[in-house]
Amino acid sequence: MANLKIAVLISGRGSNLQALLDACAEPDFPAEIVLVLSNKAGALGLERARKAGVGATFLDHTLYGEDREGFEKELDEKLRAKGVQLIALAGFMRILTPWFVDKWKDRMVNIHPSLLPSFKGVSTHERALEQGVRIHGATVHYVRADMDDGPIIGQAAVPVLPGDDAETLSARVLEAEHKLYPACLKLVAEGKARVTAERVKIDKSAAANEHAVLYNPGG
Ligand code: GRF
Repeated sequence: MANLKIAVLISGRGSNLQALLDACAEPDFPAEIVLVLSNKAGALGLERARKAGVGATFLDHTLYGEDREGFEKELDEKLRAKGVQLIALAGFMRILTPWFVDKWKDRMVNIHPSLLPSFKGVSTHERALEQGVRIHGATVHYVRADMDDGPIIGQAAVPVLPGDDAETLSARVLEAEHKLYPACLKLVAEGKARVTAERVKIDKSAAANEHAVLYNPGG
C-alpha cells in the first residue's frame, strides 16, 4: 500500500515535527511527509525539515490581514499541489476557520498538551499545576471547528510529581508527545483509527503494543 502523504503545519520549535520526521524515516512506517509549512518565518521546524530533505515553506498570514480565508485558500492550494492526504498540526499557532476545517474534516489531526477535554487552550501546564491534578498528559485528535475539540485518537498520561513547575512538567509531557504522535499517525495511516459518530474506533487488528504506547508512553 502506498504511504499516506502528510503535511505538517508548524509555527515554531518543531520538536513534534522532528518525532514525525524520524518515524517517517523508518522503512516500514506507513506515512511520508511531503510538506512542512510554517506561518512564522525563521521557525526552527523549517530547518529541521530541510535537514531531513523535506520541502519546507513559509506562508506569511500577516499578508492577509483580517482575511483568514484568503490565507487558508493559499494554504489549501499548496497542500493540494503536493497531493497531501492528511494534515498534522504540530504547534501551529493559528486558529483555522470552519471553512478550512470542514474541507479537511477527518483528514486533519492535532496534538494538544493536555488530557482533553481538560485544559483546552494555552498555558496548559501552568493551569494543571494550579488545579493540583495528579495526572496530566497529551492528546492527539481529529480537528473540529471548536478549539482543541474533536474525536480523540490517542492520549498519553504522565504523573505530576511533587516539586514540579511548568518547565519540568512540560518536559515530561513533551517526551510523551514524541511517542504519542507517531503512534497515532501510524494508526491513522493504516486506516485503523476511523471516525464513526464523532468517536474514533481503533481497529481490533492494531497491535497490543500500539495500544500500550498510546496509554502509557512513559512506561
Ligand atoms: C507542543 O506541546 C504541542 O502539544 C502543542 O504545541 C507544542 C509544540 O511544540 N500543540 P513543538 O513545536 O512540537 O516542539
